[in-house]
Amino acid sequence: MFSFFKRKYEPRPIFAALGTDMHCHLVPKVDDGSKCIEESVECLNTLKAVGYNKVFITPHFCVPRFPNREDDILRRYEEMKRQAIEAGIEIELAGVGGEYRIDTGFKPRLDNPRFLKVADKYVLVEFSLHQQMMGCDELIFDMQMKGYEVILAHPERYPYLNVLGSRMEQLKNQGVYFQINVLSLGGFYGEDAKKRAYRMLEAGWVEFMGTDTHNTMYAQALVDLSHDRKVEKVLERYDFLNKTL
Ligand SMILES: [Fe+2]
Repeated sequence: MFSFFKRKYEPRPIFAALGTDMHCHLVPKVDDGSKCIEESVECLNTLKAVGYNKVFITPHFCVPRFPNREDDILRRYEEMKRQAIEAGIEIELAGVGGEYRIDTGFKPRLDNPRFLKVADKYVLVEFSLHQQMMGCDELIFDMQMKGYEVILAHPERYPYLNVLGSRMEQLKNQGVYFQINVLSLGGFYGEDAKKRAYRMLEAGWVEFMGTDTHNTMYAQALVDLSHDRKVEKVLERYDFLNKTL
């Protein structure tokens, strides 16, 4: 089979404990994720090999960098799904959601009822990785008032948020779900993000785990991580909501 990379290790299916991946960027050419269908298929095969049996794809919605439209993403997802099934993938493509960046371009979306949700239920949102935008929390609150269930993507990756500080606590108290990237647990995003991820787990603040797979480099990192016994224990010890999707 065509492969972008030579594997150092054979994959171990440790992520079977989660069952479902609910965050990745494998609709080709719509964001900074997969560049072509072959790369998407390679990544999907790797997700299956490390234990996932189901996946939701979540392209970026972020103005002006990725000015995606829901109807266009749906169309491209269906095309990608057709091609991936034709290529023989064994993982279930369960649907397409979005990863909505909460910034100045987000507010008009609140009047737009077309959010692409994970499992028809959750809206996945992210903050800027570099700087805090004033009013983010209020926008999330407004979403909740409109009845949306909100998952905050990779809170461990925002260096300006104190892990157990008041802002995080407030987000938790107002019912925001937290989704940590599994690769954070192996230090893929640096030692600080890794520490924050473990502290949030210990605090009992993490409901979902996602791979945030963008390309084959992430897939290779997942294979490597599948040999990490500490991560395997985390997956056994905590009760994540991935299996409910
Ligand atoms: Fe993402």
